[in-house]
Amino acid sequence: MSKYLVTSALPYANGPIHLGHLAGAYLPADVFVRFRKINRDDVVFICGSDEHGVPITIRAEKDCVTPRDVVNKYHLEFKKTFQNLGIEFDNFSGTSRPKHYEISQKFFRDLNKNGHISVHTEKQFYDESKKRFLPDRYVEGICPHCGYDKARGDQCDKCGKLLDPMDLIQPKSVLSGEKPLIKETKHWYLKLQDFEEKLKTWISSKKNWKYNVKNFVLGWIGTEGLKERAITRDLNWGIPVPLEEAAGKVLYVWFDAPIGYISSTVEWGENLGKPDRWKDYWLDPETKLVHFIGKDNIPFHAIIWPAMLMGQNTPYILPYDIPANEYLTLEGEKLSTSQNWAVWADEYLASFPPDPLRYFLAANAPESKDSDFSWKAFQTRNNEELANILGNFVNRTLTFVQNNLGGIIPEGKYGQEENKIFAALEEKIKNIVECFASYKVREATQLLMDIARIGNKYFDETKPWVLKKENPDKLSTVMNICVNILRMLSVTMYPIIPFSAQKLWKMIGETGSIMEEKWDSLSGKRVKAGQKLGALEILFTKYEDKLIQEQIDRLLDKSKRKEASMEEEGKKSVTIEEFKKFDLRVAEILEASPLEKSNKLLKLKVKVGEQEKQILAGIKAFYQPEELIGKKVIIINNLEPAKLMGELSEGMVLAASNDDKSKVIVLSPVSDIESGAKVS
Ligand code: MF3
Ligand code: ZN
Repeated sequence: MSKYLVTSALPYANGPIHLGHLAGAYLPADVFVRFRKINRDDVVFICGSDEHGVPITIRAEKDCVTPRDVVNKYHLEFKKTFQNLGIEFDNFSGTSRPKHYEISQKFFRDLNKNGHISVHTEKQFYDESKKRFLPDRYVEGICPHCGYDKARGDQCDKCGKLLDPMDLIQPKSVLSGEKPLIKETKHWYLKLQDFEEKLKTWISSKKNWKYNVKNFVLGWIGTEGLKERAITRDLNWGIPVPLEEAAGKVLYVWFDAPIGYISSTVEWGENLGKPDRWKDYWLDPETKLVHFIGKDNIPFHAIIWPAMLMGQNTPYILPYDIPANEYLTLEGEKLSTSQNWAVWADEYLASFPPDPLRYFLAANAPESKDSDFSWKAFQTRNNEELANILGNFVNRTLTFVQNNLGGIIPEGKYGQEENKIFAALEEKIKNIVECFASYKVREATQLLMDIARIGNKYFDETKPWVLKKENPDKLSTVMNICVNILRMLSVTMYPIIPFSAQKLWKMIGETGSIMEEKWDSLSGKRVKAGQKLGALEILFTKYEDKLIQEQIDRLLDKSKRKEASMEEEGKKSVTIEEFKKFDLRVAEILEASPLEKSNKLLKLKVKVGEQEKQILAGIKAFYQPEELIGKKVIIINNLEPAKLMGELSEGMVLAASNDDKSKVIVLSPVSDIESGAKVS
């Protein structure tokens, strides 16, 4: 028995989970954990949401809500999605909790005390109209490598190259659309070079690590040597840098996020009423710490994170293994959330059960190279393997026992022939165990299907429907063997398709959880003759072309819709009836003030005829509140009221804007007319 601490990359709480995330970091980890647990290992499976950083503040600004709102929303969604998919973490925390702040600040302090942190003044983009620095994605511009005109300050979405905001051609502030100034600001740096030798020795000792990970790390250290990296940002959402002279600065999200693995483990222990339990894992050199991640996370997990751990005064363990996965493509193309080229987990779950997806992603895991999800391939895997091979064997065996043997598992007399079959099966199981232990989920999936194939072949060759008339003794043994194969199948299925495994377990009359069964008792353990089958049900259904086509259409449709953008939408004609639904009115602005919590919104009080109402308008960047007071504007009077940042908005002020939204002009009647006048 070994001790494992298994983690999956903490998902950014700025958007939902899609199949690419699942294939890279969550499903392979869950399969590994289920295998380890059923193998009597001591395992804790840790995750949580990654709640800081620019992706989250930008999302919040776009949606006119607080970062806290964004984070809470996705945190809850993640929990639900993972649960529905059977990704069973022992704890799912979040990085904006007090415990996490405390541990993260301690990390910084230790590194600082030990001399691994330096301070420099550097040049950074600054938005004059917003009086804010613009870290990472707050600047967009033209990619110097490929010319893409919406490259972000940290990375180009088109060519994938990592960028420094200063590299961008024609940089623009995401907040105001204006050309940013360059100003000096102070930042704190982690001196990675201090750890170079230690890291090299450590990585070199990892003989069995995946090629992609080792190669990347040695390549990075080898060609350039390690340099210091900024670990602070000018943002107001994040963990404050624990130094007096760093007021207003927060820790860089990639500094605090991996510490979430520790804080989530601490929380897990606390929830069990054992606040010191985390130490049994993080401070015990015998613990095998395994990080499941996608390949874009390799530098952070294999270099920066171990360096951070090495610089601590608490003797934390280092990663034991980092089985990073390559990417999953979708219908042959790179996934893109901005272009809506993605299948979201919840969207999938609305039409299908979890196991066929788990099976597909396991059979096509991007273990050593990129792999593809296509709806057609998904249909084939489901129909031809799960339904036709595995499902068929389950079904024919159990209905035969039900219909011809009264639903009771018959006695088996094992002679040479039967023992040979058991030996062949046990050989397969041995191989599956080896695959699971070395993260080879693809191969394990094939071997699992091989067992079902052996079952079908045996059933075909022994012809139970003939034996029924000619040799009831032999029939009894044959069906006993078939049910034994089902028993082995259900245990081997469990890591990959746990829902179906548990159902099959019940159908062969086992009570209790399959978790009580263990691999090491699998060989030699046989079904109990005389045991009654449970209620039978169909494990896998086939998916018709129509259902699959609907998914393909939806995918094409939603990505097209996005591509076509607002312009195209605007060109579609509407009927006069549709237009009449809008109650457009002239309104007079009585009061205007900035909404403190938002850098987009102004709070307006307007008069519409006799009525007064409050409207929030996203024009803070374009108007001083004073200049609006007394002006007449056009509003949608019957817009459904909504709450934005805790404030009520009872309508919408109409405005015109140019393409990149750098200019926004509120509409006003050309000559005067009383408020409340109808616009049509
Ligand atoms: N949120 C990051 C991503 O989605 C992963 C963070 S992993 C952790 O790419 F180590 F920082 F936790
Ligand atoms: Zn580019």
